[in-house]
Amino acid sequence: MYTVLNQVSGKSFQCGSDQTVLDGALSNGFNFPYGCQNGFCGQCKAVILNGEIDYDEGNPEAISDDDIEANMALLCQCKAKSDLYIAVDEIDSLANIQIRSMPCRVEEVNHLNHDVVQLILKIPGSQSLQYLAGQYLDIEHPEFEPRAFSIANAPVNSNLLELHIRLVEGGQFTNFVFNALTEKTILRIEGPKGSFFLREESDCPIIFIAGGTGFGPIKAIIENLILMNSSRTVYLYWGVRTEQDFYLNLPSEWSEKHSNISFIPVLSEPDSSWSGMSGYVHEVVMKDFENLIDFEVYACGPPVMVKAAAKSCIENNLKKENFFSDSFEYANVGSTDE
Ligand SMILES: Cc1cc2nc3c(=O)[nH]c(=O)nc-3n(C[C@H](O)[C@H](O)[C@H](O)COP(=O)(O)OP(=O)(O)OC[C@H]3O[C@@H](n4cnc5c(N)ncnc54)[C@H](O)[C@@H]3O)c2cc1C
Ligand code: FES
Repeated sequence: MYTVLNQVSGKSFQCGSDQTVLDGALSNGFNFPYGCQNGFCGQCKAVILNGEIDYDEGNPEAISDDDIEANMALLCQCKAKSDLYIAVDEIDSLANIQIRSMPCRVEEVNHLNHDVVQLILKIPGSQSLQYLAGQYLDIEHPEFEPRAFSIANAPVNSNLLELHIRLVEGGQFTNFVFNALTEKTILRIEGPKGSFFLREESDCPIIFIAGGTGFGPIKAIIENLILMNSSRTVYLYWGVRTEQDFYLNLPSEWSEKHSNISFIPVLSEPDSSWSGMSGYVHEVVMKDFENLIDFEVYACGPPVMVKAAAKSCIENNLKKENFFSDSFEYANVGSTDE
């Protein structure tokens, strides 16, 4: 066991040498920021002020040579090799949110279009899951490694959870969901997880950039804003390849009903009948907003889109601390999957 002391809070926790520093922090009730937990998204990056860490399988993708030079480490991947002194800004809003594992029943499997299923899960009895709109959960099934999916409905004390699941070509679990999962199946979920949620303390205008099923957690956040009667100005850019990839008409309904919400659909491979915006979704946002200094941006979807959006937003003057994202990385598939 090693002691990990956070300079920012002055608090410390004990971390086993066989667990990642992030796991040590979360299991001790520390609200460290993180996203994919796979070493890809970079959201768990922190400065190691003193002490030794190591990675089991070499340096992960999201850590650059410059990061290592600056003593940065990916807490979801590194293990302590000595006592550590680190600097991490904890997220206050997560203080009362507990990660739990519980069974749930598949209530509905709705095919929304050619490659997206809406899964409605029911938590049994009087239980409910406390989460912040935008967070995700892991689905556990005995035949598969856990897979991450964002919760697509706002938390309203209901015991129903909505997920939007895109079929991945050659993907084991998503093919199972599409072809074999039936209503009444019992699954397990673990959550809520992640740091993608609305920063309610701010009232500046928000730009949401969604790619494909990255719309799911953004839907939950916008539903929450509507429930709160928020008057914040919202621009929702939803990018997909072709028109048939839009799997819900809700954004148009929101923008018709709420004068503070604008919806801009974007196609990257439009046909000649499309009269809306075309191109990569983040590039369309950058053309519309050359100066993002007064904005918050929430981006969610494929990793390549999230990375490109982060880079372009910063180039267009967005303050780094006003960029929030969830990157839909694939799971690190282990040997359990057949
Ligand atoms: C925080 C988070 C939230 C997410 N939320 C959502 C969401 O709301 N909706 C959604 O649709 N998705 C979401 N995702 C993505 C989702 O988790 C993945 O699409 C899902 O895990 C894919 O599972 P699968 O078993 O179908 O694919 P896998 O079997 O894991 O395979 C994925 C892809 O990788 C390829 N592959 C697998 N193993 C290898 C290998 N060894 N070498 C090379 N290629 C390989 C496969 O052929 C396939 O193309 C989220 C991801 C994260 C991290
Ligand atoms: S890289 Fe650590 S949470 Fe994504």
